[in-house]
Amino acid sequence: MDTTLDDLVAQARLRFAQASDRAALENEKAALLGKQGALTALLRGLSGMQGEEKRRLGAQINQAKQQVEALLAERRAALDQRLLDQRLAAETIDVTLPGRGRSTGGVHPVIRSWQRVEQIFRSIGFDVADGPEIENDWTNFTALNNPENHPARSMQDTFYVDMTDAQGLPLVLRTHTSPMQVRYARMHEPPIKVIAPGRTYRVDSDATHSPMFHQVEGLWIDEHISFADLKGVYTHFLRAFFGTDDLTLRFRPSFFPFTEPSAEIDMMFKAGPLKGRWLEISGSGQVHPQVVRNFGLDPEKYIGFAFGSGLERLAMLRYGITDLRQFFEGDLRFLRQFNV
Ligand code: DAH
Repeated sequence: MDTTLDDLVAQARLRFAQASDRAALENEKAALLGKQGALTALLRGLSGMQGEEKRRLGAQINQAKQQVEALLAERRAALDQRLLDQRLAAETIDVTLPGRGRSTGGVHPVIRSWQRVEQIFRSIGFDVADGPEIENDWTNFTALNNPENHPARSMQDTFYVDMTDAQGLPLVLRTHTSPMQVRYARMHEPPIKVIAPGRTYRVDSDATHSPMFHQVEGLWIDEHISFADLKGVYTHFLRAFFGTDDLTLRFRPSFFPFTEPSAEIDMMFKAGPLKGRWLEISGSGQVHPQVVRNFGLDPEKYIGFAFGSGLERLAMLRYGITDLRQFFEGDLRFLRQFNV
């Protein structure tokens, strides 16, 4: 073969080997076999030749061209294989690893307690009501016998919202669920028998107080509802809630503007880790005649009781939790314990 052709093939071999990817390789191919390529030029040169010489040289050029094409195909295959190997290495899947699974969420312990409370009170004929967390100050305070500027208001320091409602009343984040007594009673006819669980807000934050917390309000109004009914209902509730009859209640005189007389309900377990200690569990009382009037009812005819209990407090006693803040930290190690 012609030395020029030998050189050309040797050069092709070298340059193909140096091409490190498909794009570089195709550039080298164009330099030899493209329109301006060296081999193409040689083939074009044949047209000026005649006879035997043309045939001989033509055959040699074609042979060289075939060699170059073979080298090209070989290098293409090698580069493709290398690319594939790299991808396979990068995308390795270890099929022996355990699956990731899909974790299921769980119900928060306070919400669990909330659901339990609803279930118990429904079972003894109480309706369950829900109302606004942004409340006007008439319903949150005034209607509940907390006159403006009365010092009792400062018992519940709150978050005022810099807005008024449609009637021009100032708005507050409700400090308790008690305004639901007023809302519900004004929309229903006696007998009124309802609980209203929900979120409440106060400017308060330590191991036993959180600025947002939950309460459940209870109200039973009819013509002959007495403290004895309150005691019966609340005793039944606590026994069902804690799943034991081994507990006892006491009513300790107290003050709330919307009840008269008012009482704190204390409870004591007769067995278990909290045995023998009086635990404060709820505010309660006979609904004040003025509040019954604010319900739109005649206090000469209608009488009854109300109570307001902290849901966190109930959950803490049920689960033996001592720091309320754990409920709100979102630590899954803590929360998972309640969802087994
Ligand atoms: N609303 C009171 C509070 O948040 C709790 C309370 C006391 C509610 C006595 C009542 C009640 O319904 O009768 O401190």
